[in-house]
Formats: sequence, C-alpha cells, structure tokens
Amino acid sequence: MERKEYYDNLGRIIIPHKEITAKAGELAAAISRDYRGRELILLGNLKGGFRFLADLVSFLDIPVLIDFVSFRSYSGTASSGKVEMVQDMTIDAEGRDILIIEDIVDGGTTLDFLIRHLKDKGIDPERIRVCSLLDKPSKRKIKVPVHYKGFEVPDVFIVGYGIDLDERFRELNDIREYKG
Ligand code: IMP
Ligand code: MG
Repeated sequence: MERKEYYDNLGRIIIPHKEITAKAGELAAAISRDYRGRELILLGNLKGGFRFLADLVSFLDIPVLIDFVSFRSYSGTASSGKVEMVQDMTIDAEGRDILIIEDIVDGGTTLDFLIRHLKDKGIDPERIRVCSLLDKPSKRKIKVPVHYKGFEVPDVFIVGYGIDLDERFRELNDIREYKG
C-alpha cells in the first residue's frame, strides 16, 4: 500500500502518546498498591493490548507473572459477534490473582467470553479483575467489570498504540480515529 493511502483515512488524534504513557503510570501505581504482597498474573489479551501491557509493566514496582490469551472476534470495523479462542493461558493460575489487560472494551463479548472461560477452569471469580486502556461504554451489549480504566472514548473506530484495523496501524504511537 502506498504511504499516502495508508495514512489518508486516519482522523483526529483522540489520545496523544504522552497522555497514554502518563495514564499507564497512574494505573501501574494503583495496581502496585493494590497487589503488593500477592502473586499476580498479568493476562494480556493479544494482540491489541501488547503495547499497553508493556508500558504498564515498565511502571510497576511489584513482581508479576505475564501470560497471554488470544481471541478472534473482529473482522474489518464491525464485530462478527462470535468469539473464538486462539491461544489459552500457559501459566498455572492456582492460588494467584489474575489481572486481564485489555486494549478496549466495546460490546463486551470478548471480555465476557474470557472471564467465563477462566471461571470454567475453576478460577475463583474474586481473583479475576480487568484493566482496560479504553472503554466504549456506548457500545456495550454485555455487562462486564472494568476495575482499572484508562480512558472512555466515543463511538468511533479507533486505531493505534497496538489497536488495529485488519492488522494495520498497531505501530502508531497516538490513538486515532479511523475515518474509513
Ligand atoms: P468486544 O468483544 O465487542 O468488546 O470487542 C473487543 C475487541 O474488539 C477489542 O479487544 C479490540 O480488539 C476490538 N475492537 C473494539 N473496538 C475497536 C475499535 O474501535 N478499533 C479496533 N478494534 C476494536
Ligand atoms: Mg483487533
């Protein structure tokens, strides 16, 4: 794809990179405070949350274990409504707390599926919490908990800072609107 064409459909910057970094620092401070003395697994939901998880970790001052899960639910700019597991956890969660790290909670389908999956594995729901960089509350279809939240965003399609449109734009540092 031509360079110009690639950037043509990008809209306004919704959250500049500096603000994302500052927010990751704030959330990491709260997480460090809340989980001190416990054994915490940060469970990254690939791929959209990879940069957020890395930035969070850089600001934490408690030890953590890191694991990833991966789902498929989106195709283009519309959710398919179906969620499929691509990769499960590999770390034993027994006796440990889990903090799910999400890029964005939209309809809530993916997160609901993941939480149910963890409960089905026998993990105590009390030990499961969620940290999401972005929240699009106007799009919510299923009620899901978000214990640590970065920013609420309007109902626009978002790309950048790990978040994609058909695997593109994850490398952008700012979070931007995709106009299409
Ligand atoms: P949900 O299952 O509808 O909550 O969708 C959650 C997943 O859909 C997120 O983890 C993202 O990967 C993707 N998603 C939701 N909204 C957007 C968006 O605005 N841009 C890019 N991906 C999105
Ligand atoms: Mg995606």
